[in-house]
Amino acid sequence: MSFLAKSFRVSSAASTFARFLSGKMVPITINGRRVEAEEGSSLLEACENAGVFIPKLCYHPALESVGTCRLCLVDVKGMGKLQPSCMTKVASGLEVVTENPEILEAIRANLRLLRSRHPNDCMTCEVNGRCQFQDLLYRYQIEDKYDKMSRIERKEELDLSSPSLVRDMDKCVLCGRCVRVCASIQGMNILAMVNRGSVEIPETVFELPLNSTQCINCGQCATVCPVGAIIEKPHIHDVVDALKHKDDRIIIASTAPAVRVAISEEFGLAPGSISTGHMVAALRKCGFDKVFDTNFTADLTTVEEANEFIARVKTGGPFPMFTSCCPAWINMVEKLYPELIPNISSCRSPQAMMGSLVKTFYAKKIGVAPEKIVLTSIMPCTAKKDEIQREQLAGDTDYVLTTRELAKLFRLNDVNFSSLEESDFDSPLGLSTGAAAIFGATGGVMESALRTAYETITGKDLPSVDLNAVRGLEGIRDAVVDVDGLKVKVAIANGGANVRKLIEKVLAKEADYHFIEIMECRGGCVGGGGEPKSMDKDILPKRIGGIYKIDHDMKMRKAHQNPAIKEIYEEFLEKPNSHIAHDLLHTHYHSRKIE
Ligand code: SF4
Ligand code: SF4
Ligand code: SF4
Ligand code: FES
Repeated sequence: MSFLAKSFRVSSAASTFARFLSGKMVPITINGRRVEAEEGSSLLEACENAGVFIPKLCYHPALESVGTCRLCLVDVKGMGKLQPSCMTKVASGLEVVTENPEILEAIRANLRLLRSRHPNDCMTCEVNGRCQFQDLLYRYQIEDKYDKMSRIERKEELDLSSPSLVRDMDKCVLCGRCVRVCASIQGMNILAMVNRGSVEIPETVFELPLNSTQCINCGQCATVCPVGAIIEKPHIHDVVDALKHKDDRIIIASTAPAVRVAISEEFGLAPGSISTGHMVAALRKCGFDKVFDTNFTADLTTVEEANEFIARVKTGGPFPMFTSCCPAWINMVEKLYPELIPNISSCRSPQAMMGSLVKTFYAKKIGVAPEKIVLTSIMPCTAKKDEIQREQLAGDTDYVLTTRELAKLFRLNDVNFSSLEESDFDSPLGLSTGAAAIFGATGGVMESALRTAYETITGKDLPSVDLNAVRGLEGIRDAVVDVDGLKVKVAIANGGANVRKLIEKVLAKEADYHFIEIMECRGGCVGGGGEPKSMDKDILPKRIGGIYKIDHDMKMRKAHQNPAIKEIYEEFLEKPNSHIAHDLLHTHYHSRKIE
């Protein structure tokens, strides 16, 4: 296979911004210490790179800075009043002071103001111990002088309408990150700051419940929220309850590709560390009877999807065929672009395939009624909580825990994560290849499908398993793949705003791709709305590094070579795209466009 062209690349907001930086290191002085910092970069980042703590709420490394929280204040010689360091650019010779009584008083005054409108819910808040506001209140010892923090009555209604998210605007600290991520990274504009002063909040259009908007449940707003104002809809309490009161039920967990390279961050390990064995062991310690691997059904997805693509090649389309494993993407199509429904692969997501196989194939194999099985899916994703409630799929997967909730479950069970003896997944739904591992990164589903489609079409071995042309972090990438003379035009988009750019091009007939991979989160699922919150600007490449290492180190790297996949076809599913495979592994979509 060769890649003939890469004609259309759109860079991410971060790398566009990076082009304005000179790359030139200049001397500045921070608290009397001379350091080198990149000219044009933000003073906040320069201070942090020099190991100097700067308080912040509205700043996030993945978003444009707006300078609204007024917590990152510093004194810059010659600039008069205190400056927000997130908005101040590094220039040669800057002399900066980050701590003095005036700065301290200004920071404390701003924190006190925010605290005065914040409820005193920390003890039972879902983000207790993981809240950037709570950390700042503690660090700066902001006393509850007027006892205003006790929640006497709710000011804003709790929005529980979404199957994926909970909005508690009483806890909002007005940083605006959710508004910016939804608009600039996701291209959705679901939220906007409304009102001013003590009644300011991020609100939906016409103050609609979130589920009545065009929200795609990607959860990016929850990932950047520094407090508990937007969180994933918790399933953890139901899972804890199921584990405590098993009765005669079998409690099963199944884990997605992107969880194993991110869960370690919650336990102080380096981002991108691969924790598969520890994660499985920790799940067993929590009481799960079986631990299956959603990577197994990622391999199954590849086999079904590659065969679906080949069938479309034989019958003339419809093209482009879009991947279907991202439920936020399915939401986007059903809500905004229903005319594209025939183009979406009919394959269920790996999570949904696991759900149907556990409740049919596995239940039958062990002679247990499906209702005696409780299946918890562990996902980097908030949209997967929505997916399990789709009428086409309901009843298969019982609960979805995000990576963040999984870490909480481990902490609740006093799991000493990295000192556990590593454990392996259970069969028959636990064996996978490297092709499944890369589902967690943008381009991975495409690469996996191409590995299988090439060998299925040509009957020959791939010249090289690493298809580097579809890898990378650019928002939109494309390539032409030569499959024995057949020129297959493929494209990959990640991050909602990039997805919408690509879709507009397809709809305007300015692009004639055959196969397109869509992931609504930047970087793919490693950047999912349920992954650990991170302020590391290199978090995506670090997690993706872990993903490709898993693939690289595996002996089996093509989905169709997985012996457990071959076995399940022989024993149960007959062959790819068979009648039973269609029943259990495929689905359908319908328009939910709001006219
Ligand atoms: S879930 Fe996604 S689309 Fe919905 S409000 Fe949050 S960022 Fe916007
Ligand atoms: S909901 Fe969260 S992210 Fe949005 S403005 Fe409030 S605190 Fe910030
Ligand atoms: S890219 Fe992955 S994590 Fe994000 S919404 Fe899609 S499936 Fe979920
Ligand atoms: S972090 Fe700089 S003003 Fe908020």
